[in-house]
Amino acid sequence: MDHKEYFLTCHLYFRAMKSLKVAIIGAGQMGNGIAHVFAQCGYDVNLVDVAEAGLQKAIQTIHKNLDRQVSKGQIDEAAKQSTLERIKTFTDMHAAVSDRDLVVEAATEKIDLKLDIFKKLDEHTSSECILATNTSSISITRIAAATRRPEKVIGMHFMNPVPVMKLVEIINGYSTSAEVSKMVKELSIDLGKVPVVVNDYPGFVANKILMPMINEAITTLHEGTAGVEEIDTVMKLGMAHPMGPLRLADFIGLDTCLSILRVLQEGYGLDKYAPCPLLVNMVTAGKLGDKSGEGFYNYADPKNPRVAKAFS
Ligand code: CAA
Repeated sequence: MDHKEYFLTCHLYFRAMKSLKVAIIGAGQMGNGIAHVFAQCGYDVNLVDVAEAGLQKAIQTIHKNLDRQVSKGQIDEAAKQSTLERIKTFTDMHAAVSDRDLVVEAATEKIDLKLDIFKKLDEHTSSECILATNTSSISITRIAAATRRPEKVIGMHFMNPVPVMKLVEIINGYSTSAEVSKMVKELSIDLGKVPVVVNDYPGFVANKILMPMINEAITTLHEGTAGVEEIDTVMKLGMAHPMGPLRLADFIGLDTCLSILRVLQEGYGLDKYAPCPLLVNMVTAGKLGDKSGEGFYNYADPKNPRVAKAFS
């Protein structure tokens, strides 16, 4: 059986049997959402992180988000329980990935960390295993080059909150095979998502367009054209965005926004992507948005964010 036939056969098999065994690397904001969606769709999930505490927090978050779905009548209590039962947690990478068919990496957005993880995944998984990354901007081609199977490395970029957002941006690296791309596309549909396949250039599509808008909103604030609430209200009510760009920047994480802008600036060699100095200062000061408790808004009461003192 050639390479192409192998993947088509696997694809049909996985779809029919729901037997695709998945590991998710990283139990943070994105990792727990990805684990939630795979498990809810019937897949067996190993969730891996370096610390047990991070894993416990992720399971609590998944629990809470499933409860929210139960209370809205989207799923029943039995579906919630079976989803939770399908997720096993690991701190030992080898034990978590050695029998897996697909690994989705959702670790911190740092190139050296990702290269190191992919080198390890290449050693600890079978040679047939597909290695996907949820990176929001790091080159898939560069990550793939850390492995001996670049044709089986692909971007699978979920959006936050993962259980809610419909899009999966699938990024083909330079060497990603057409069969792997097709299989990941079909799998995304099986997860109830809408896949869009794009090519591997800095920021892909989502962040090449989103981040300049967020950066422009920060510059608008920095220049004193308008305040935090005014900017967000203009974009929410004028453009029907569910969140204003400053609230969204806090939600994504200001450190993530900064690192994506730097990837765009370096990758395209264009100053139009240069991060606003206010964003740089806020990240340096540890004001990272929701995750640190303050960014453009203060989240002391997370259900009722207030404009942060620095901007009120
Ligand atoms: N898990 C499960 N369900 C969730 C959830 C979660 N974590 N968070 C919210 N929900 C559900 C709620 O139950 C609710 O469901 P119903 O519509 O069935 O009632 C729905 O989502 C809306 O939630 P809320 O009523 O609590 O709040 P909201 O109306 O303000 O919506 C939001 C919250 C979905 C986050 C909405 O504000 C939104 O869509 N914001 C924009 C999000 C966005 O742009 N994400 C992309 C970020 S970019 C990215 O992720 C990639 C990157 O590379 C940077």
